[in-house]
Amino acid sequence: MSEKESIGRKWWKEAIVYQIYPRSFKDSNGDGIGDLNGITSELDYIQSLGIDVIWLNPIFSSPNDDNGYDISDYKNIMTDFGTMEDFDRMLASMHERGLKVVLDLVANHCSDEHPWFKQSMRSRDNPYRNYFHWWPAENGKPAHRWSFFDVNADAWKYDATTNSYYLHYFSQKQPDLNWENPKVRKEIYDVMHFWFAKGIDGFRMDVITFISKDTSFPELPGKYQGDFISYYSDGPHLHEYLREMNEEVLSKYDVLSVAEGIGITGETAHDFVDEERHELNMLYHFEGMGLGYLPNTFKYPDPQGFDLVAFKDIYSKWDHVFADKGWGTIYLGNHDQPRMVSRWGNDSPACRELSSKMLTTFLMTMRATPFYYYGDELGMANIRFNKIGDYRDIESINMYQLVKNSGGDLSAFIEAQKFSARDNGRTPFQWNDSANAGFTNAAPWLAVNPDFKTVNAAAQEKDDNSVLNYFRAVVKLRKENEVLVYGKYTLIDRDNPDVYAYLRESGRKKMLVMLNFRNKTASTNAGLDLTNGKLLLHNYDTAPASDALRPYEARVYEV
Ligand code: NOJ
Repeated sequence: MSEKESIGRKWWKEAIVYQIYPRSFKDSNGDGIGDLNGITSELDYIQSLGIDVIWLNPIFSSPNDDNGYDISDYKNIMTDFGTMEDFDRMLASMHERGLKVVLDLVANHCSDEHPWFKQSMRSRDNPYRNYFHWWPAENGKPAHRWSFFDVNADAWKYDATTNSYYLHYFSQKQPDLNWENPKVRKEIYDVMHFWFAKGIDGFRMDVITFISKDTSFPELPGKYQGDFISYYSDGPHLHEYLREMNEEVLSKYDVLSVAEGIGITGETAHDFVDEERHELNMLYHFEGMGLGYLPNTFKYPDPQGFDLVAFKDIYSKWDHVFADKGWGTIYLGNHDQPRMVSRWGNDSPACRELSSKMLTTFLMTMRATPFYYYGDELGMANIRFNKIGDYRDIESINMYQLVKNSGGDLSAFIEAQKFSARDNGRTPFQWNDSANAGFTNAAPWLAVNPDFKTVNAAAQEKDDNSVLNYFRAVVKLRKENEVLVYGKYTLIDRDNPDVYAYLRESGRKKMLVMLNFRNKTASTNAGLDLTNGKLLLHNYDTAPASDALRPYEARVYEV
């Protein structure tokens, strides 16, 4: 049996996932908001990237308190994005091109404008009451639950109609669904069947680790040491429900399922993804995303930057977690993060291209399914808004209010947001150098990054050495070398503070990847004789003249 067979070959292990934030990709109808027809009109571009799977952030009916993560009808398309006919056409066109489509399953909560919630609010004996978590106020205020987006960080909201509190881990407009109620679970499975019957190829599952709750709502148990995320992701029936979802739905289709793995650790990961668990295919962990922030702040950057050795340790650890069993994912940016190049590379004019290419090389040469965020293939950078009024994201807006309510330093908050805010990663795709970067002919819903005059797809198409064409080349390299998918990973020169180097090996095939994460020349002692090595790819316009790596240089050798 070959190594690949022993690890269990699957299409979703070999795939490259390209994530599109539909609001910001392409506006086809002149309302300043990206839409499904816009995506369909750009399928030549998407296909030219060489990727296999498209993950779309939520496209369902929503009042957009949290840009679609607050769903008011799970079986309908958000008006801003188009109609069900537009969806059907888009899906068929993607499938014709051999592209698979993964949608976002937002099942921990819905919108307060969903008919289930509207019913549930009406009276304590409404048949939908038990679809949500209600707490009668005559019993006093329930034990504190922390909320991500609440201006007082309070996850309980009082509602006078029935003199009760309801639970919302996210905004007040995102009430948590009560998964302990079998009817709720059935509703969600029904929604999943609806979309699978249309032919979609999988789901990315939003905060799926939070679905099960101890409905006695005790004080936070001491073992969690005040860490609500660990508590939320450790609900009493979580795995029972995931197994049920697998049995009722996922097992009936050949589809991809990936958990937003908030709260999952190296120790608990296997419980979610091992084949014999019959739960999910993959998860994405958050460990890397915590690097480079000052502790006990709301994502304030550490002036020292992030520690590359800690970075290597995290990604090496996660490779190790799935070395024999299960399968990993890898990403450096998505709609909840700032731009990859601004966060992990260097977006100054001299370094933006090189460091973008270097980071892309990392993502495409690890043993995990890459999740690659739209616009990173151009090296799009953080927009760095100067004032709260420029932001559209509920997280930034409500956190600003929270800082204000608690008498905090608002200008320090705005400075930190320039580094870490989610809207940095949500600005419109930069198609060309015409007005609004060719994204829309109206006022865009979120400002276009002013660097679009130079950073745009049209300009990069014409340049063989562009970030875009480098992305295509490294995608091709992964596709042509299975060793980059399944091959064993070995970290080299771990303590080197500047260079990340590793081997990928399978049978007689061996590749060496060297990545300089610094804006200076740096060397690594790979302990290998490279004189007979074949340089397959590097990110400079000129060939390397020595073993030392130039600033942000990336090289891939066959050795
Ligand atoms: C995680 C999503 O990725 C994020 O964008 C959203 O705000 C929360 N879950 C709530 O759904």
